[in-house]
Amino acid sequence: MAGGQDDSSVRVALRIRPQLAREKMAGCHICTSVTPGEPQVFLGKDKAFSYDHVLDMDSQQGELYEHCTQKLVEGCFEGYNATVLAYGQTGSGKTYSMGTGFELSSTEEELGIIPRAVAHLFRGCEERRAAAAQQGRPVPEFKINAQSWRWGTIPNDHSK
Ligand SMILES: Nc1ncnc2c1ncn2[C@@H]1O[C@H](COP(=O)(O)OP(=O)(O)O)[C@@H](O)[C@H]1O
Ligand SMILES: [Mg+2]
Repeated sequence: MAGGQDDSSVRVALRIRPQLAREKMAGCHICTSVTPGEPQVFLGKDKAFSYDHVLDMDSQQGELYEHCTQKLVEGCFEGYNATVLAYGQTGSGKTYSMGTGFELSSTEEELGIIPRAVAHLFRGCEERRAAAAQQGRPVPEFKINAQSWRWGTIPNDHSK
């Protein structure tokens, strides 16, 4: 990033997923190493890449949410817009991280970004309403709209 992170409203976090069972069985090597205390990853020995945040293989879903999304959802109560998107090759962990593979998450810890953000948003509305009522202020009203689509459901979308 040319101007340093404070000059840009775009933040990029890298998440490295753990090896899958079949990758372990195939004897695949781990070629990434995260520099302790730095948002930097080495590919092999000498190719270093820096991001705003790096989550290594042992990172938990809650940690991802705290570092990458929590402040954005709080910000929307202050009137700021935010977009979170997952980018990466097939199998890299986008669905897992975003939390849209609901059938896969059996525990609360495994919930990804979207269900956490939705819960956070509704909780945030309730907290603000309760605080206003308690302090005798007019209780604010919130309106939440949601839309959803999948690749393949848009007319003329040939990406899948
Ligand atoms: N952080 C993670 N911890 C454990 N398993 C993961 C993690 N990220 C991805 N996986 C697993 O890796 C596989 C591929 O992930 P997936 O989210 O489907 O990738 P994508 O959506 O990018 O194609 C899935 O079996 C998923 O459960
Ligand atoms: Mg996916």
